[in-house]
Amino acid sequence: MKNTIIAPSVLAADFANLQRDIEMINNSEADWFHIDIMDGVFVPNISFGMPVLEAITKHAKKTIDVHLMIVDPDRYIKTFADLGANILSVHYEACTHLHRTLQAIKAEGMKAGVVLNPHTSVTLLEDVINDIDLVCIMSVNPGFGGQSFIENTYSKIEKLKNLIIKKDASTIIEIDGGVTDKNAVQLVKAGADVLVAGSFVFKAQNPTETIAALKKLTTL
Ligand code: DX5
Ligand code: ZN
Repeated sequence: MKNTIIAPSVLAADFANLQRDIEMINNSEADWFHIDIMDGVFVPNISFGMPVLEAITKHAKKTIDVHLMIVDPDRYIKTFADLGANILSVHYEACTHLHRTLQAIKAEGMKAGVVLNPHTSVTLLEDVINDIDLVCIMSVNPGFGGQSFIENTYSKIEKLKNLIIKKDASTIIEIDGGVTDKNAVQLVKAGADVLVAGSFVFKAQNPTETIAALKKLTTL
């Protein structure tokens, strides 16, 4: 049986009711908190920074999965470890010395993730895949919630899955952007292990039930 990890993206939460939305995730069937950090340079948007993350981790009772959309992420690895991140993912496109960055993340006791923009080929990870705990394939261009899903994602997942098997790596595959009940099953069948969902969860009438439905749908 495949138990897919569901990671609601806090970016889509109501920031004026953040504690309520965090408790909703705590009490739901969600597995992780997905936290999007944007610097206004790597992506054309600014989300939130350290004080807000600190407030989130104070209440969150599940794995903290941090997605850094920032340039030169090496500057903040220790800061995010101290703030309680369990998984720290950096963008392939933002790292000149990706191997070094991954070792630095692990040295701080976190799992190391690499995120690929829609145009970045999974084949570029061939020589570093055994050092990566999680690869996140962006299924939208990073920077905003609520965008539509890019269909080419399925073939990227399959290519990545083949690479992981070929290299005998234990890397897991996360999908981020435009995930709904319409594409979730096909994503899992293609090889996804973790589904991030922002607007699909938080714009729903009943977010708790929406998470439960997504979880049920993707337990194959
Ligand atoms: C986009 C972020 C995503 C975003 C997903 O840059 O990385 O995590 O919050 O939001 P939805 O699910 O609405 O596409
Ligand atoms: Zn994200």
